[in-house]
Amino acid sequence: MRKKLLIGLTAVAIAGLALTGCSSRAASESADSTVKKGDTIGVALPAKTSQNWVLAKASFEKALKGAGFKSDVQYSASVSDQQNVIQSMVTKGDKVIVIAAQDGSQLGTQVAQAKKAGATVIAWDRNIMNTKNVDYYAAFNNYKVGQLQAQALLDGMKAKKASGPYNIELFAGANTDANASVFFNGAMSVLKPLIDKGELKVPSGQTTFQQVQTDNWDPKNSQTRMTNIITKTYSNGTVLDGVLSPNDTLGRSIITAAQQAGLAVPIVTGQDSETASIPLIMNGTQYSTIYKNTDDEAKAAVELITDLSKGDKKPAGVDFNDKTNAYNGQITVPYKALTPVLVTKDNAVDAYSNNPTLEALAKGAK
Ligand code: BGC
Repeated sequence: MRKKLLIGLTAVAIAGLALTGCSSRAASESADSTVKKGDTIGVALPAKTSQNWVLAKASFEKALKGAGFKSDVQYSASVSDQQNVIQSMVTKGDKVIVIAAQDGSQLGTQVAQAKKAGATVIAWDRNIMNTKNVDYYAAFNNYKVGQLQAQALLDGMKAKKASGPYNIELFAGANTDANASVFFNGAMSVLKPLIDKGELKVPSGQTTFQQVQTDNWDPKNSQTRMTNIITKTYSNGTVLDGVLSPNDTLGRSIITAAQQAGLAVPIVTGQDSETASIPLIMNGTQYSTIYKNTDDEAKAAVELITDLSKGDKKPAGVDFNDKTNAYNGQITVPYKALTPVLVTKDNAVDAYSNNPTLEALAKGAK
């Protein structure tokens, strides 16, 4: 009796295995994972924490249309929102899914599903961490962004006061964004040796990434932190010479904190060339920003997709070994990099000459 049951069960199990074997073979045979012109490309963007994300949707729609693809661009307000967006792109059968991560460490399951379904995963602007399931990463050179910010901070302070030591404070972006530590490490590669020599001082004593990161890239958080540091460390007349700010949104909040505390506005750096910051740069309130043309960045991803649609296994401009920018904790993701441009009052008109909106702002036109 018992033996019969066992044999019966084994037979069912074998039949089941054969069935799954068949169906998965059929699926992989019919799944053509090569992207083709006319296919829909999913683009999962994060929350609009800065103007570049607002611009990104139109940049992708234009570039994808121009290259002969259909687009499905979606924002997410939260991590779970983005996980659902990616899952639905996988279910719809998108052949390529471009992801600018809301939280780079929380997408492992979703990119594994995408790969299993035969999709190509491209991390865009922000890397996706601790997974092997990312095929490419297209972004501006983030380490270089940090180095340029630090150099601008030094140049700005020197122009105001010929010799140091200078008092500075440090701000970084959100610890959930893989870019934030890369920006910070790039900046610290320039600043740390000078801090060690005593040419730069950080009077708050807050110098580690975790101490200076800004939850959610939210300017309310950076303004509160700056206000607290001013109250504790600078209300006795100590001069604050400069602040490393990772982007324009946070930079403006730092400027506001200084103004509200009645402090002379220090040299403040930025990033993104936001329309709200360019007038401040031109009138000397904010010292610098970085120009990362969002259209160009979207085009870089779309060029990559076009190369893949031609069956290219080594698409143009892809570096397979840039550990500094593209190591995600498990693999160095093949990386297509763009070069960021430092912008101050001195080169703004020139730097924005390919962008009528920004050029007009730099020229002071309304
Ligand atoms: C982007 C920056 C942006 C920041 C906040 C980063 O990942 O690279 O351009 O300022 O996110 O949204």
